[in-house]
Amino acid sequence: MKNNSTPPAVIVSANNLLAQAKLEKCSLCGDRSFLLSQDAKGRPLARECSCREARKKVVLFNNAKIPSRYHDATLDNFYDINLPKIKLALTKAKEVIKLYQTNYKKRIPDLGKGLLLYGSPGTGKTKLACAILRTITLDYGIPARFIEFVQLLNQIKRGYDTGEPESNFLLPLVEVNVLLIDELGKGRKSEWEGSILDQIVSRRYAAQKTTIFTANYAVTKKTINAADKGDAPSLLAERIDTRIFSRLSQMCHFIDMDMQDYRKNMPEMVEMKKN
Ligand SMILES: Nc1ncnc2c1ncn2[C@@H]1O[C@H](COP(=O)(O)OP(=O)(O)OP(=O)(O)O)[C@@H](O)[C@H]1O
Ligand SMILES: [Mg+2]
Ligand SMILES: [Zn+2]
Repeated sequence: MKNNSTPPAVIVSANNLLAQAKLEKCSLCGDRSFLLSQDAKGRPLARECSCREARKKVVLFNNAKIPSRYHDATLDNFYDINLPKIKLALTKAKEVIKLYQTNYKKRIPDLGKGLLLYGSPGTGKTKLACAILRTITLDYGIPARFIEFVQLLNQIKRGYDTGEPESNFLLPLVEVNVLLIDELGKGRKSEWEGSILDQIVSRRYAAQKTTIFTANYAVTKKTINAADKGDAPSLLAERIDTRIFSRLSQMCHFIDMDMQDYRKNMPEMVEMKKN
């Protein structure tokens, strides 16, 4: 029998490198996850406490390995939500999550497309993608994982030195329900780097798994950062293998997030809010 009382609140903080969630102490069970009572005949009876589900979600959030900087990223703490690009990106993110959750619950094998958030630096791509992971894990209890592509390459290289096989790093990324690959296309574009990306993307594509990408590269020649005074940014299709790029268009909705740099404009915006 389940207990339906409200579970304790989740607290998310920045812990060294990663965002970390924990539950407030459960006043019902004292963190034992079950409640003891007696049945009609006075025999001891253990019931699951309502905090148990919440505990599982907290573990999923922590396993997602969201970087500290984005510990407080949620779908409702974006500024300028009336700017068309932000509005559209948020709407699409919510649609993707909703469809994913519905299909996941109904065990429909095609869980729906992911997102490719592309644009110039500082426009909220990683923030939005991390907010999606937070919702997927903490609200819906679905496994998800963040990985920064260049960091992954470094981990694999270190593994070669210590004798840890590539598959130890890649399998969890292939298998996780929702994967966020941050900074797609970054790196030196070597054949080896391409093959690592190919292993993840092709296998997730074949398994119809949902993947979210962020990228600093333009997707079409028209999507050129207005603030970029120099050469036009290179195209994503030139940074990754054509095989991979071709899969992306089927795996993801491409979302244009090429706009103002919030890293530069944030203090000004905060001032404006105060006035
Ligand atoms: N719409 C927004 N509202 C509030 N804060 C924002 C918004 N967009 C971005 N930020 C903040 O601006 C900073 C940069 O955002 P973020 O790191 O997500 O950018 P990015 O698009 O991933 O940049 P890059 O391409 O360089 O990785 C972060 O501190 C983020 O929280
Ligand atoms: Mg980013
Ligand atoms: Zn409890």
